[in-house]
Amino acid sequence: MALVNDNYVDLKESYLFSDIAHKVAAFTAAHPERKVIRLGIGDVTLPLAPCVVEALKKAAGEMGAKETFRGYGPEQGYDFLHEAIVKYYASFGVELDSKEVFVSDGAKSDCGNITDIFNNADTILVPDPVYPVYLDTNIMCGRKIIYMEGKPENDFLPLPTADLKADVAYLCSPNNPTGAAYTKEQLALWVEWALANDAVILYDAAYEAFISDENIPRSIFAVEGAKKCAIELCSLSKTAGFTGTRCGYTVVPLALERKTSKGEVLSLNKMWLRRQTTKFNGVPYIIQRGAEAVFSPEGIEQCRANIAYYQENARIIMDALTEKGIKFYGGKHSPYIWLQCPGNMGSWEFFDLLLNKLGIVGTPGAGFGKCGEGYFRLTSFGSRENTAEAAERILRDL
Ligand code: MLT
Repeated sequence: MALVNDNYVDLKESYLFSDIAHKVAAFTAAHPERKVIRLGIGDVTLPLAPCVVEALKKAAGEMGAKETFRGYGPEQGYDFLHEAIVKYYASFGVELDSKEVFVSDGAKSDCGNITDIFNNADTILVPDPVYPVYLDTNIMCGRKIIYMEGKPENDFLPLPTADLKADVAYLCSPNNPTGAAYTKEQLALWVEWALANDAVILYDAAYEAFISDENIPRSIFAVEGAKKCAIELCSLSKTAGFTGTRCGYTVVPLALERKTSKGEVLSLNKMWLRRQTTKFNGVPYIIQRGAEAVFSPEGIEQCRANIAYYQENARIIMDALTEKGIKFYGGKHSPYIWLQCPGNMGSWEFFDLLLNKLGIVGTPGAGFGKCGEGYFRLTSFGSRENTAEAAERILRDL
């Protein structure tokens, strides 16, 4: 008799964004005449940069010619993409070895898969509110999870305390869902804590391209000592509009080592390589060529222009909220605006009001954890036209 994984019983019925998609589908079926503006899941709307499309086409051509066709590639990614990523990091002052870079189909997969190299006895520290993937993937392994509260008093940026004990800590900066971003000094406190506790930080940098302040690091490896205690997860989804194209990368430093329960010292870089070569066959060659183009000077410029477009959308939403006297956070170094539900409404109550009355979809803060109750997330990834219309509806009808 096959027994199934007991831990799935401890998961919520469905994944947050599937839940919302079902509610919105029911609403549009009941009200086909209403135009619904989707500012919920952080999905991009601008097309891929022209130089990325050219690179994809060229690579597709290569796959159709006998001389240039490729079969299985290296599981951890092609050298050309490693080199492009290493150069990209160097542009903001972080030195990487190409052996530290592992290309994948996105940060969400890596966030879940990285749990394979940790012990099930590890205690996991997650912020609250939190991107649900960190939480659910560890619940699936039956791990003990502890929370650190993000609230207005700490600007939604929890910091370690002297008595904080955990083995693995997830940090996301700029943060999903709150949009808050750690300064270098604040990240240095986390690095110091991790080194003192032999902990590992899993640092989600998926939104680094939205940072527009030199005091906010684009990578945790900008902090001294981080290579001995951190793994960085990164994605081209938001940087280059790859939500449907799928490509990301994880940086596992060569200097990162931890002990097994029996005291044997292992390299996490080697463990991750072993895991990936066993369970993953790599990202398609065509996609990796597209990703390489993202990091070319032309690609960086074209992707920057798209990010500037989303930043302007954020400004439009923030202006409308300011005019309505609604308190909000984020929006500056992040595509997410984290607002306090007006009139002391609960997150789901506000979700229903926004959908039914204004025809706008957002994400209830309560879906990101207990501390998210009473808050609500809007994304700036909509089209300009829809974002402007949503702002008008907020000003007119809320
Ligand atoms: C979000 O809306 O939180 C993100 O799009 C989810 C993701 O990146 O997987």
